[in-house]
Formats: sequence, C-alpha cells, structure tokens
Amino acid sequence: SYDGSSPAIPLSRSFNYFGQSYSQIYVNHNGDLTFVSPWSSFTPQRFPMYGTRDVIAPFWTDLDTRGNGDIYYIQYTSGSILQQVTQDINRYFPALNFQANWIFIATWYEVAYFPMTGTQTTFQAVLTTNGQYSFVLMNYGSIASMSRYVQAGYDTISSSHHFTIPGSFSSDATGPNSTFSLGSNVNVPGRWAFRVDHGSLLLLLYQPGSDEKFPFSV
Ligand SMILES: *[C@@H]1O[C@H](CO)[C@@H](O)[C@H](O)[C@H]1NC(C)=O
Repeated sequence: SYDGSSPAIPLSRSFNYFGQSYSQIYVNHNGDLTFVSPWSSFTPQRFPMYGTRDVIAPFWTDLDTRGNGDIYYIQYTSGSILQQVTQDINRYFPALNFQANWIFIATWYEVAYFPMTGTQTTFQAVLTTNGQYSFVLMNYGSIASMSRYVQAGYDTISSSHHFTIPGSFSSDATGPNSTFSLGSNVNVPGRWAFRVDHGSLLLLLYQPGSDEKFPFSV
C-alpha cells in the first residue's frame, strides 16, 4: 500500500481540539488526520486506543491512491462554503450562535482499498472553528464493499475523549448499506457532527428545543 501523508499543512487559524491548540495538520492517506506528526498506520485500531496521539479518523483503513482516487484538502477563512458550514453547525448545535471564521476540508475521493484497484470510496472530514468552539463534520459518500475492518470516529491523547461511529469494526461499515453513509447523529444520512473543543455528546443529545433524531444509542 502507499502509506503516505501530506506535508505539514499550516492552518490559517489555530484549531482547539479538546484543549490542545494546533496550528498545523497532516492529511494521512489511510483515512485520518493528525496534528503533531504524519501517521502511516494502515491497520485500524479500536477507539479508545489510550495512545499518545490526537486523531480524527473519518475512515481509517488500508487505502491506496496509486490505482485510483485522489486526496484533496483546502481551507477557507471566508466565502460561501464557510457560510454553508456555519449554517449547518447552527442547525445541529442551535444554542451557540456559531459563526465560523475558518474551515478545513479534507476529501478522500474515489480512493481504492489496498490492493483492490477499481474500488471507489469517498468520504470527507470538515473542521471548523469560531475561535472558541470547534467542530468536526464527517461526510460519507459511496463506500465500496470490503471484508477488512474500518475505524471511524475520533480519539485523543490517552483517550480522554473519543467517539466511534456505529458500524466500525463490523461488516456494516462498508458497502451500499454502510452505517456510516446511511446513519447520522444529526438526522442527515451520511453526516456525523461532533463538537470537539470539549466533550459534546451529552450537550448534543440533550440540546433543549432540538428535534434532531438519534438513530443510534450511545
Ligand atoms: C441494502 O439494503 C437494501 C434495503 O434494505 C436491501 O434490499 C439490499 O439487499 C441491501 N444490500 C446489501 C448489499 O446488503
């Protein structure tokens, strides 16, 4: 497989990830983002890992862009995509009056599983902040079938905060009925939203006035 990473990408705004303020990020080929150093691991581990690394993993498994697929990243500090993300965050977290001042988008587009050239899997992570609050969105498109494991979610140093998207490490992760693509924690199939400046799941679940549906127990 091709277990590479982007270079260190300087962030236009610092990103608070559970109390750690980061000013750079790595987009790793095997479906995850790290901050301090690139990460080449192609063998997913279950969260919580109780490790030494902050990691945002929309789809951690053995991927290979040499046969097909591309990995893109871009950041914005203004413009229509930033406004769209602002609207989405306010819909999912309505009490915060959030206005994004930065978004970072990493997209794994039609990437192949190693060594299965021809398989096409598309997913995305979106990071955003207003300087105080920070959020991660994970978006899932078409997920090709595969028999190996996938870990989706996020983890932190020593796993003080972590989340696993239901279906990780199961046969439900991939294929046309992937629970990542069909499921959601914000009632938008294929989209998962997390507040990550501090633990957010309980706030999200008990948000007063929210009519969001939660298809999975946590
Ligand atoms: C996906 O779900 C649909 C509807 O339940 C079902 O008809 C189909 O067989 C499923 N496909 C696979 C590959 O499991």
